[in-house]
Amino acid sequence: MDSIDLRSDTVTWPTPEMREAMANARVGDDVWGDDPSVIELEALAAERLGKEAALLTSSGTQGNLVAILTHCQRGDEMIMGQVAHTFQHEAGGAAALGGVHPHTVPVQPDGTLRLDDIRYAIRDTEDIHYPITRLVTLENTQGDLGGIPITAEYTQSVRQLCDEYGLKLHIDGARIWNAAAALGCDVRKLTEPGVSISFCLSKGLCAPVGAMLCGSAAFIARARRIRKMLGGGMRQAGILAAAGIIAVETMTQRLAEDHKTARMLAEGLASIEGIQVSLNAVQTNIVFYTLDATLPFDAYDLSTFLERSYNIKLGGGKGQRTLRAVTHYWITEDDVAKVVEAFRHTISQVNHGALSF
Ligand SMILES: Cc1ncc(COP(=O)(O)O)c(C=O)c1O
Repeated sequence: MDSIDLRSDTVTWPTPEMREAMANARVGDDVWGDDPSVIELEALAAERLGKEAALLTSSGTQGNLVAILTHCQRGDEMIMGQVAHTFQHEAGGAAALGGVHPHTVPVQPDGTLRLDDIRYAIRDTEDIHYPITRLVTLENTQGDLGGIPITAEYTQSVRQLCDEYGLKLHIDGARIWNAAAALGCDVRKLTEPGVSISFCLSKGLCAPVGAMLCGSAAFIARARRIRKMLGGGMRQAGILAAAGIIAVETMTQRLAEDHKTARMLAEGLASIEGIQVSLNAVQTNIVFYTLDATLPFDAYDLSTFLERSYNIKLGGGKGQRTLRAVTHYWITEDDVAKVVEAFRHTISQVNHGALSF
């Protein structure tokens, strides 16, 4: 890449191997169901996640939306975490386009939703004042809390609760492979309790576009129609699937490297006076850190300066003091050392009056 870009793992460029596979991809018309590369990717994703079938979607947002609209009717309700990506960052698509009502519950510091909170949120089906609870969604890893991986045992306990009330369970597994790497388990253990699960190809797995939605053959057949309705039927999508196959086959195997660089970054930043990092929360590839109120600049000032002076991209808005750095395939251990040094030098210069923003 042409910078040290820590804003997200969505910024990853495709690898040279992916670009070559894309250039040579066998293609067909996927809306007619005859694109061989898409067929191969969907079979691969389903097999790796232990589900009967899979569907290529244009993004993680579309994968979640298709899942919700496949599970729910207009006026149904879905229970999800207050900081779930689907609730916070997907433009309210399920409500706007599907008439599905979100019912949020708090997310605990370990990334879970309390079973009692879910149970309490489930509506009495006999009472006509209420929408009908249809779906629970979990997020793994839990992004807004720093990429915390959610265990198979916990996910299974939520599935049991869902079964007790006749509800469906969808897992937003945008970074489920990071969770599997961090927990040291087969990804199937994490996905088994989900009736449906989506994961992203274009985050830490480096593919340029796409996500996969997995579930039973009957569920995916219904989901395919909803994807078409949302304008997500793609024609020679084999060009994208060719990169997706490499993402699933090889990029899923190296994510522990990103967790290592995230830990190095977290420890490096924590060693700088004026920066707070909650090291326990750093379990995968996401690092949240906070600039002390004593520092005379905010995240926007700092990231603007570091981009201009060191070609380091961090993001961060005006007035913001807590921000996120995400490691990925294109961030090396050397890059992390450069970033920590750039922070240390910049803050020291500001503290000594040699630099102001
Ligand atoms: C947890 C989670 N779910 C879903 C998405 C949506 O993915 P996309 O950006 O491909 O729509 C993201 C994106 O960052 C995410 O972090």
